[in-house]
Amino acid sequence: MHPLLAFEGKRIVITGAYSGIGAALLELLRESGADHVEVLDIREPEATVEAFIETDMGNPVSIDAAIATLNSEDAPPIDVLFNNAGIAATHAPDKVMRVNTLGLKRLTDRLMPDMKAGGAIVNTASIAGNGWPGHLSEITALLGIDSWDEGVAWVADQADLVADGYLFSKECIQVYTMRMAKRATELGVRINSVCPSPVDTPLLPEFRQTMTDQAIDWAIAAGAGRVATAEDQARVLLFLASDMAGYINGVNLIVDGGFGAAMQTGQAAFPT
Ligand SMILES: NC(=O)c1ccc[n+]([C@@H]2O[C@H](COP(=O)([O-])OP(=O)(O)OC[C@H]3O[C@@H](n4cnc5c(N)ncnc54)[C@H](O)[C@@H]3O)[C@@H](O)[C@H]2O)c1
Repeated sequence: MHPLLAFEGKRIVITGAYSGIGAALLELLRESGADHVEVLDIREPEATVEAFIETDMGNPVSIDAAIATLNSEDAPPIDVLFNNAGIAATHAPDKVMRVNTLGLKRLTDRLMPDMKAGGAIVNTASIAGNGWPGHLSEITALLGIDSWDEGVAWVADQADLVADGYLFSKECIQVYTMRMAKRATELGVRINSVCPSPVDTPLLPEFRQTMTDQAIDWAIAAGAGRVATAEDQARVLLFLASDMAGYINGVNLIVDGGFGAAMQTGQAAFPT
């Protein structure tokens, strides 16, 4: 293993590691020497971890309790934070926004200042968030709100913009990643995101339900011609968290098997 890809001795926190991309990431981290992994999830992972903190990322009380546990006395600073937990629009829009955006922001805003210099944050966003430039001013307004209740109220007021919650929640994560990069630099850490196209995880059937089979199958066919595996995405999460990516900051890395490239160059029109 290249030493820049090694995670031995690093304190790693992952949200959403029970299944899918997060579970694949846990395996890869172990293969990369990780010996201190703490998981925040509503379900306890089957894989052995150094700590499981039952946490609902859509609930500020639960998130704050997890932060208190993570910051308990004698705990070493966190080296790596993976914000991976997420849900589909099979849930109500306000819940999608709470778990995918408001919870991620709350946890990160509060953990980042005490992270170890040289550390990294990696968010799991989505290509579903690529439309952020059309909503930058609104997203900037939401991300400027620190209060949980005010954030929830903002989401309720913007029902048309938020729509089913999923696309907008991921647009917010792409913008959050870019906005936080400057502050990260000042603290000596980095923040980036991975933006997957459809991935073969327990969430995929839910995306088929909310986005249609036609849209999902098109994104797969026009990209790599096969659906991404959880490991395809976990490898990139691991890379961005590693010292190998030491000069990458504020980047939303599209991991879509070439789908976006084909679209942008007019080689992948949506079937009519
Ligand atoms: N599967 C895809 O096609 C796809 C595409 C793009 C982005 N993503 C993103 O990848 C991330 C991982 O999803 P996945 O596809 O591996 O699906 P998954 O359902 O297997 O994983 C989601 C994880 O989040 C946890 N979780 C769910 N609700 C939670 C909550 N309230 N609090 C804490 N943890 C919670 C789940 O228990 C699970 O471990 C998500 O952020 C998702 O939006 C997935």
